[in-house]
Amino acid sequence: MVDVAVELAGVFFKNPVLSAASELVFDGPSAKKMVKAGVGGIVTKTFTTSPEFRIRLRPYQFPLARFDSALKKSGSFHSLASPHVQKMNLVMGENIPEMAHICKDNKIPLIVSFYERPHDLTSWKRVAKGFERAGAEMLELNFSSPTMKGELEKSLGSSFKIIESIEKFSHIPFGIKISPMMEPLIDAVKGWKERGISFITAHNAPSGIYIDVEAEVPHGAPAIGGYLIGRPFLPISLARVVQILKTIEIPVVGVGGIFTGKDALQYLLCGSSLVQVATAAYIEGTGVFKKINQEIIFWMRRKRYSSISEFRGKVLQKIVPSAELKMKERFPYALPPESPYIPKIDHRRCIICQTCCRSCFYEVLHLKKGKIGVEKDRCWSCGLCVGICPEKAITLVDKKTGKIIWKGHGLALPFS
Ligand SMILES: Cc1cc2nc3c(=O)[nH]c(=O)nc-3n(C[C@H](O)[C@H](O)[C@H](O)COP(=O)(O)O)c2cc1C
Repeated sequence: MVDVAVELAGVFFKNPVLSAASELVFDGPSAKKMVKAGVGGIVTKTFTTSPEFRIRLRPYQFPLARFDSALKKSGSFHSLASPHVQKMNLVMGENIPEMAHICKDNKIPLIVSFYERPHDLTSWKRVAKGFERAGAEMLELNFSSPTMKGELEKSLGSSFKIIESIEKFSHIPFGIKISPMMEPLIDAVKGWKERGISFITAHNAPSGIYIDVEAEVPHGAPAIGGYLIGRPFLPISLARVVQILKTIEIPVVGVGGIFTGKDALQYLLCGSSLVQVATAAYIEGTGVFKKINQEIIFWMRRKRYSSISEFRGKVLQKIVPSAELKMKERFPYALPPESPYIPKIDHRRCIICQTCCRSCFYEVLHLKKGKIGVEKDRCWSCGLCVGICPEKAITLVDKKTGKIIWKGHGLALPFS
């Protein structure tokens, strides 16, 4: 039996895949849709009292799929989505109680996302208490909005005050959602943890802009907007999650670029407690939540895991600072022809597509008499040809012993 349930700060989640703060959920009907989609918990769209933050430009969603297949595949889009536009009294009086009721009936936690003006502590406290009374089980303070991010860059002081005052007033767990550009990352997370947050949600997507070269104008709207990266955001967000978890013991909710079970598993293996998904649901539909969960379950069955805690963080222990690897490097200054490893071609697998020849700027690989040949003395032992070969026909081997150094997957031998 596989059990994918997760507990975080005393709150129980049926499975680890939540809908991330976005237009996916802002009222009762949208919460119902997410329940049907099989999410383990719901994070609402960010709400706020301040009218200046609620201004919604129209149109505001500009997918990039038309431009080329790479952008289509990566699910990238440019968005000017701002916090939810409805007034707070309506949100507090109708939307939240309705969502809370639906979530309670279906045993799914409701996490409400919000932010207020950075220095208006009274609003932060009042709104946090209001959401708690209206039925929220957890709060996600959105510190990733451009206003909050700007404030945090000036000083962490106001964020500490916000947390301290909510901690005094609130009876439900609350966490912080951060931007992937948040600096100083570790000082901030340490300070927030000391002041009482229960979790960190990492991350909101970075902002960007895309130019329609044919029309010679910005795509959709002439302004920098959010969520531009899509699936390629995963390694960037995950690296920062690793940075946090390597230095601070705090539950992290991993977000960014998750489209598949394998994507979600990367965050869990690195120690995330839960994951959240937004873009994939916009691009592939809400069926993506069940698909991700199923893929996690199939993987766990295959690996004979019966609960997430059995593998959570397993990979985190294996990740070390690159400086540590450099200290142990056996061939720090080797140049060709002294570099230690060379590619070995499996001619039974090689289809002579010459991808390796085109990619090797050291000119190690050449087509010679109908076969790919290796000029050993030019090789820098970099491994690019191994990873780039579409037929898995190249391995990196020790020049002297012939021992396999890297097969194109898993850890390379010197680092394992
Ligand atoms: C259209 C859209 C609207 C979003 N709105 C919010 C929001 O209101 N508050 C928030 O904290 N994050 C918001 N996000 C960010 C997501 O919650 C998530 O952090 C980010 O998109 C990275 O995850 P993903 O790659 O799964 O999309 C939004 C994302 C998208 C795509």
